[in-house]
Amino acid sequence: MIEPSILSCDFSILGDQIRQAADAGAKRLHIDVMDGVFVPSISFGMPLIKSIRKMSDMFFDCHLMIVKPERYLKVFAGCGADGITIHAEACEDIQAAVDEIHALGKKAGLSIKPGTPVEVLEPYIPSLDLILVMTVEPGFGCQTFLEGSLERIRAVREMIGRIKPDCLLQIDGGVNTKTIPAARQAGVDIFVSGSAVFYGESIADNYRQLTEAEKEAE
Ligand code: DX5
Ligand code: ZN
Repeated sequence: MIEPSILSCDFSILGDQIRQAADAGAKRLHIDVMDGVFVPSISFGMPLIKSIRKMSDMFFDCHLMIVKPERYLKVFAGCGADGITIHAEACEDIQAAVDEIHALGKKAGLSIKPGTPVEVLEPYIPSLDLILVMTVEPGFGCQTFLEGSLERIRAVREMIGRIKPDCLLQIDGGVNTKTIPAARQAGVDIFVSGSAVFYGESIADNYRQLTEAEKEAE
């Protein structure tokens, strides 16, 4: 499944581009919240999510690249997030945060940066709906898929298979028609993609090509 990331949208026509992604077949939307502390960049936050919630019934997957995300879980749930993904590196009590996301009635995801050992995830897998393995250093779109990511994906796939087979495995960063096939074969369920969906002439064509790359690998 391809999950378009709005970080690469043209924000002057954001609603229109989200509609185009939905018309192309996207069921989930990736929403990158950055605080300028956990990552160098600052993206957008609550008001934007509230606005687009009014025009879309897609699954809103909020990727929180912020320190101490536990401070804001309730707020993002209230803005219209359907799923909330926090970073293992940013959170003091991961289990408490995951439990709170569930108590708010939302799906809980846990993410790791490229330098974080995959074993960090293991204790939390029984309570997770999604694991996000970053395939670039978080913070910016348009980066290159990091070497070594496939091995990490396979290791996480193995853990999920052993502990909680219905937990989804997602990757984010450098996803395109060239990087999808091997990652799909390594066990990825959801491909977050920003620039490969929203840059260029046609969102519909981009989305179709990414979906085809995914199918061909199966
Ligand atoms: C990066 C963000 C990504 C970003 C991916 O920190 O988490 O979601 O939008 O962009 P691309 O697909 O261009 O690598
Ligand atoms: Zn992201």
